Amino acid sequence: MLAKIEELLQEVGAMTAANAEELEALRIKYLSKKGAINALMADFRNVPAEQKKEVGMKLNELKNLAQERINALKETFENQDNGAAELDLTRTAYPIELGTRHPLSIVRNEIIDIFSRLGFTIAEGPEVEDDWHVFSSMNFPEDHPARDMQDTFFIESHPDILLRTHTSSVQSRVMEVSQPPIRVICPGRVYRNEAISYRAHCFFHQVEGLYVDKNVSFTDLKQVLLQFAQEMFGPETKIRLRPSYFPFTEPSAEMDISCDICGGEGCPFCKYTGWVEILGCGMVDPAVLEANGIDSKIYTGYAFGMGVERITNLKYKVKDLRMFSENDTRFLEEFEAAN
Ligand code: PHE
Repeated sequence: MLAKIEELLQEVGAMTAANAEELEALRIKYLSKKGAINALMADFRNVPAEQKKEVGMKLNELKNLAQERINALKETFENQDNGAAELDLTRTAYPIELGTRHPLSIVRNEIIDIFSRLGFTIAEGPEVEDDWHVFSSMNFPEDHPARDMQDTFFIESHPDILLRTHTSSVQSRVMEVSQPPIRVICPGRVYRNEAISYRAHCFFHQVEGLYVDKNVSFTDLKQVLLQFAQEMFGPETKIRLRPSYFPFTEPSAEMDISCDICGGEGCPFCKYTGWVEILGCGMVDPAVLEANGIDSKIYTGYAFGMGVERITNLKYKVKDLRMFSENDTRFLEEFEAAN
């Protein structure tokens, strides 16, 4: 038996394999259940008691050596494989691809930062909403066109359930559970039944603002929006408010900023007006305060809502809105430095 073990020790010590198959054959020959070493193990009980210690130690030595040799040979094959892959000279020198923040997230975070510094906290609400929070509580008349199938995605089996068309629904969600002072911004995704083109999509993003307290005036609204515009687009930025209409604000206005491409001179981007529109706003209609459980004789408020895509277009001059949702990494990588 000892002689047989010695013989195998020599064999195993000298074994080589040219490829993985040969190596596997060696493993089967020596280390598998039916291999040579296991056969010796089975014979071990026939070894006379006085030789058991010496034979046992040799047998273990053999088993360990076989395992070591096979592992060592296996490693050389694995390294060879990697070696081949490393020779691909067309591969980038950068070892890992770093992800970038989405441009809409960058701009949304910037908007949130600016309003946080002005004392606003963040509120969120569901994207699948009911008619009350999106329309009725926001003072939309029964026959208002915004409720029309052409604008709103309804859930077929439940005409009362819909995809919110604006983040104004979150105003209602906040007011129904809290009393003034209320000062929130509500970022979120909204949906409208529009044909998709370079300038319209069936979903986009808004940031809504709401401030309700005693003695809130239109001047407060104008001041906070001026502050926002100058932090977002630069200290030279001018704003102007044009009268407008929303069911939930009275008076209502749309805000333009001075065109930062031509500096107000007039160019194709601002259609030679020197101004570009960025948001809707106004004083919260007393009927909205009342519908949401707030006493309109004590409190007044202002609200505003802006499109994140619109602001991003102005900041980064993205011509085609569809780029934002196509996930083309060549487009997204351009925003690496803005992260
Ligand atoms: N909800 C309006 C829209 O989607 C924007 C808005 C919000 C206007 C708040 C006034 C006040 O167009």
